[in-house]
Amino acid sequence: MIYLTRRERFCAAHRMFREEWSDELNLKIFGKCSNPNWHGHNYNLWVTVKGEPSEEHGFVMNINILKQLIIDNIINKIDHKNINLEVEFMKGKIATTENLAVAIWDELNPFIERQGASLYCVKIEETENNSIEYYGEKGRINK
Ligand code: NI
Repeated sequence: MIYLTRRERFCAAHRMFREEWSDELNLKIFGKCSNPNWHGHNYNLWVTVKGEPSEEHGFVMNINILKQLIIDNIINKIDHKNINLEVEFMKGKIATTENLAVAIWDELNPFIERQGASLYCVKIEETENNSIEYYGEKGRINK
């Protein structure tokens, strides 16, 4: 099994908050990312697909196709946008990196399957110290 990763970057604004909470409670739970006047991050996104190299061309998946799928379906919709207000696939979701990783997975997965590969991991770095990895596993771990 081969794992193939493409990195893309985007800049976007967000605010993490719950509308029904006061600014004070949002600040307590979400920290500086709850600033009511928005702020931005320079995000790194890694999309990893897996599969066996094809006998015909030796690729797990053509990296140029993977790149274009990420650009068309994610980057062009989120780069230099406000995640809360302008990104359709994040509508109604708290703009955390966790929710973003799941939403990006759900957007890309059907296209990657059509290419004969499997999506393996969506990794997003919000800052150089904080990153999220999502492997498509659903379900909550109960306390
Ligand atoms: Ni933030």
